[in-house]
Amino acid sequence: MDLKALKVNGDRLRSTLEEMAKIGATPDGGVQRLTLTDEDKQARDLFVKWLKELNLEVHIDEMGNIFGKRSGKNNDLPPVMSGSHIDSQPKGGRFDGILGVMGPLEALRTLHENNIETERPIMIVDWTNEEGSRFAPAMVASGVWVEALDRNWVYDRTDINGKRFEDELTRIGYKGTVPTKKWPVHCYYEYHIEQGPILERERKIIGAPKGIVCLHWYDVYLEGEANQVGPTPMEGRHDALCAAAEMILRVNELPAKMGGNMVATVGEIQNHPNSRNIIPDGVHFTVDIRSWDDGHALKAWGFVRKDFETIAQQRGCSIRIEETWRVEHSPFDPKLVQRVLDIAQELGYPDLRMVSGAGHDASYMNQVAPTAMIFVPSIGGRSHVEVENTRWEDCEAGANVLLHCILQSAEEI
Ligand code: GLV
Ligand code: MN
Ligand code: MN
Repeated sequence: MDLKALKVNGDRLRSTLEEMAKIGATPDGGVQRLTLTDEDKQARDLFVKWLKELNLEVHIDEMGNIFGKRSGKNNDLPPVMSGSHIDSQPKGGRFDGILGVMGPLEALRTLHENNIETERPIMIVDWTNEEGSRFAPAMVASGVWVEALDRNWVYDRTDINGKRFEDELTRIGYKGTVPTKKWPVHCYYEYHIEQGPILERERKIIGAPKGIVCLHWYDVYLEGEANQVGPTPMEGRHDALCAAAEMILRVNELPAKMGGNMVATVGEIQNHPNSRNIIPDGVHFTVDIRSWDDGHALKAWGFVRKDFETIAQQRGCSIRIEETWRVEHSPFDPKLVQRVLDIAQELGYPDLRMVSGAGHDASYMNQVAPTAMIFVPSIGGRSHVEVENTRWEDCEAGANVLLHCILQSAEEI
């Protein structure tokens, strides 16, 4: 058959995504499938069932990563790998992550029904806890797989209720026995929604990021003094929430102050005891700084950290800062990025070279194998929200690009 004319089944991809979107569906059209929850388990079970229907060799490792392997003509050759994540943000969208798992599944279904055998084996992967929203940090399971993070350190991470990562992994039945350890990979493709406004604004269908910005995460803990809000005069208070408020604005002002390409965000905060008539005595908040330039991001952190210490002192609060996680910016393999662009052109999809501002497991995979990503537009540039949306035709277009990227790479000897 003419391999160049091969196309995925867009309707099947759509119904597969719709089926998945029922698991953890939220009232306003999104999904909530926090990592290692019952919803995550349910979605994993369905994914494993679909892998088995394709006679793939399935294995689950000790971080709960799920791999499905399709044999090639020569199984001694390192596989072509593609995947993403099944977990979501709280009240997240129906496309983030899952498109990059169902996309390669659709590509493999297409190869299967056309009896196409490739030279190299092909592997599909669902990485555990990409989001890092329930258990910080993000991308931990690919991080352990490439040996950038320590497995036991990740096992001991706790959620907001004190539940341990490892215990939750065991509870949902996905703590496998295979060691989480890299093996030779020919190349890795991750298919994902853009999660930003650029493709839509430029009227493009396929984006090929040249890489991913650096991701730096921090946790700040403030301690003040609680007291009755009525009788306690304003002077002499040690209000931890007021200190946090000042600090949060400094983070928001940081990119403008620093110049260059950078974003900085406080997205999570806990206030104690969180009562309207008690002066807050304990606050925890997170800081997320991203840039293409790691040094620039570190310099920014140095400035804002000093500001934090000054503010804490002025407000009479003690401060503890944890430098939780750093992933350097990841420039992808230029040849693989060009392949994504070339295939998009061949298939007639307008394409664009860009940068990924979102983190992906591809950041870690890029440390051990030639890596590239395929982006499709996010309607209105919205993501990590229930209204996150991508046109079905665009989902299909991206899956076609992925299919042909995988095919080309799997024929390379
Ligand atoms: C991952 O979702 C990120 O934080 O970019
Ligand atoms: Mn994602
Ligand atoms: Mn995400």
